[in-house]
Amino acid sequence: MKLLVTGGAGFIGSNFIRYIFQQHPDWQVANLDRLSYAGNLENLKDIEKRTGYSFVKGDITDRATVDGILKEGYDGVVNFAAESHVDRSILDASPFVDTNFKGTQVMLEGAREHGVKRFLQVSTDEVYGSRGEGYFTEESPLDPSSPYSASKAAADLMCLAYHKTHGLPVMITRCTNNYGPYQFPEKLIPLVISNAAEDMTIPIYGDGQNRRDWIYVEDHCRALEAVLLKGRAGQVYNIAGGQEKPNLDLVKLLLKLMGKPESLITFVKDRPAHDRRYAIDCGKIERELGWKPLYTIEKAMAATVDWYLANGPWWRNIKSGEYQEYYTRMYGGR
Ligand code: NAD
Ligand code: TYD
Repeated sequence: MKLLVTGGAGFIGSNFIRYIFQQHPDWQVANLDRLSYAGNLENLKDIEKRTGYSFVKGDITDRATVDGILKEGYDGVVNFAAESHVDRSILDASPFVDTNFKGTQVMLEGAREHGVKRFLQVSTDEVYGSRGEGYFTEESPLDPSSPYSASKAAADLMCLAYHKTHGLPVMITRCTNNYGPYQFPEKLIPLVISNAAEDMTIPIYGDGQNRRDWIYVEDHCRALEAVLLKGRAGQVYNIAGGQEKPNLDLVKLLLKLMGKPESLITFVKDRPAHDRRYAIDCGKIERELGWKPLYTIEKAMAATVDWYLANGPWWRNIKSGEYQEYYTRMYGGR
């Protein structure tokens, strides 16, 4: 298969490209990434010279760039490219509208014009909003709370409109919170590990009782592969790790794995419109495509901690750049 991956220099995209080459060594994968603050070619150092892999630095909002690539003829597109951090969307929503909504529409239009056979939109469970009890299914209404999740929900609707209007074979996946190697240290797990490694305080928003479902990134990649190969066009598939935890419990677990004291925890001002709980039912992908998660938190969290501890130069390099300004703005430099 000849695949165009967008946002492949980010966290999940780079794990996905690595996973695809392990499973399908004969596939061709082009990676289109604008290398935003979150894009990092270090994430693909082991892949960059591989036969079948190519990298294009470019923006998915730019029609000419997208056309220039897609006219070469691709079987599939996997659209990861996004602004992905809720807190940054609260500071400034504009890049989220540009990349997540407009960029997705440019990708859809390019795919339509150039006859792409499979278009996979990598979306999030956050489009459903918060849920006190029970689980959202693919039929649940969209009720996003943050500018990030609103921009992803808008993109989902545009994808479905391209399927209905133009017959474009689009599939959408909505996954829960990922963890694993190469995650940018603005997100909770790598932020906690990298701060704790340097005995810095760990900021917990509000009372720490917000709950997230955590999935190991490799399980997500395997689900994306299944949807890309076997998913039905026009369908949405929820993907969950089945590992729900309050933030405070998760942070305590990470500190325990690292042998660091709980006294590092500092409760800080809550995030505006902070979703209390994300919870989705992923029975559809299990039934239709035979996918289920293989990793539990117990199995994969220790390996994740080990990866960050063994790759200090990777996150220290990130933390010495633009990140410092962001961190000071968010957390007051603590
Ligand atoms: P990330 O922020 O680590 O990576 C995003 C990548 O997209 C970066 O490499 C960045 O340079 C690139 N990019 C941004 N704007 C671009 C543009 N205009 N053109 C080209 N490239 C651009 O994000 P991630 O955590 O890897 O998430 C990837 C996708 O998965 C996103 O669409 C996100 O909404 C979705 N998702 C993430 C999670 C999660 O837990 N991280 C969960 C569910 C869904
Ligand atoms: P995050 O990793 O930003 O993912 P999302 O908001 O997309 O779920 O945050 C995960 C949870 O951790 C969320 O409830 C917010 C919380 N959180 C903190 O308490 N402190 C932090 O410093 C960060 C980044 C997140």
